[in-house]
Amino acid sequence: MSAYDKPPELYAGLRLHQNENTGGCSPRVLEALARLRADEVGFYPPYAAATRACAAYLGVEPGDLALTNGLDEGLMGLAVAYLRPPIGGPVPEAIVPEPAFEIFRVDTEVVGGAVVSVMPKPDFSFALDEVLAAITPRTRVVFLTNPNNPTGVGMPLDAIRTIARRVPSGAVVFVDEAYAEFAGESFIPELDAFPNVIVGRTFSKAFGLAGLRIGCLVGASETMYPIRQAIPVYSVNIAAVAAVQAALGDLDYLRRYLAEVAESKQLVYAACDRLGMSYFPSRSNFVLVCAGDRLDELVKGAFDRGVYLRDRSTEPGCAGCLRIATGVVEHTRRAIAVMDRTKEPGAPGDPLYLDVVAALAEAA
Ligand SMILES: Cc1ncc(COP(=O)(O)O)c(C=O)c1O
Repeated sequence: MSAYDKPPELYAGLRLHQNENTGGCSPRVLEALARLRADEVGFYPPYAAATRACAAYLGVEPGDLALTNGLDEGLMGLAVAYLRPPIGGPVPEAIVPEPAFEIFRVDTEVVGGAVVSVMPKPDFSFALDEVLAAITPRTRVVFLTNPNNPTGVGMPLDAIRTIARRVPSGAVVFVDEAYAEFAGESFIPELDAFPNVIVGRTFSKAFGLAGLRIGCLVGASETMYPIRQAIPVYSVNIAAVAAVQAALGDLDYLRRYLAEVAESKQLVYAACDRLGMSYFPSRSNFVLVCAGDRLDELVKGAFDRGVYLRDRSTEPGCAGCLRIATGVVEHTRRAIAVMDRTKEPGAPGDPLYLDVVAALAEAA
């Protein structure tokens, strides 16, 4: 069974390894948290207002949306609802186009389902024919991510439609839109026409609420029902309830972050070009960089000096690749300074490199 390779708890330096918003949340979120009253903390949390706020933001009916303790909880709820083997029945299958968010694999196996991996194309364009060929009468979930993590590459909405039409009755197509704000595209407007599709969203990334753990699932009520049954009744806490409403009340903050992300990506692309490394143009707030045989030097060199990048080289199709979050421009510039100084083979040993990374570590 796969175990989740949880990143080590690194908080002393520049966290560019978990696709978080390193600028944090809107100040309005902190104000809302400071306004929480003792009685609100003392009571089980009310969800109606936060559900309405999220539904309005996403343009859906509140009844079609379930708040979750991070999208992670929504994923586990989906697995519990759809991927447990019935007693004496066939093992349900989950199709996972690789490379993918590891939790799809982990949750499927935890509940006793079988993972059917679909290997990627070299350019990570969506492997539609291969996914369709992987569908069987036992398929219960198809995990899709748009834009994908760890590649940042998007998939055509038409591929989602095609898959939703092909899966067997009773199966669910799950569209993970954790990074949808950065792509400016969503399948949500089509959900009425596709009742077997569920979309997952998170407030961890674009809204900078990862520490509070809040996300949501959206879909037709009959498809959502078994998932709602599987999710603990009060799993979203009052701080997250207050925070998400405050965050949605400050969309200017979101827009500013999106602009920084767009600029940061251009900076990383230019740095890769200078350094002779290829990359995958990203629709998200991170970039997958092909560092090749310089991977260890870059990831370990930056790590030693407090700039955390994510080695993704063991993921299918990602040999030699690292992932770098591209959010706050100032943070991106610092990371690029580290990468720039390592362009000559052996450079990590040279005094200039060590000076720069030491300065970065101090500044971080
Ligand atoms: C594709 C994808 N889905 C879901 C999640 C989990 O989001 P949350 O923080 O809301 O649990 C992540 C987090 O990295 C992700 O990359």
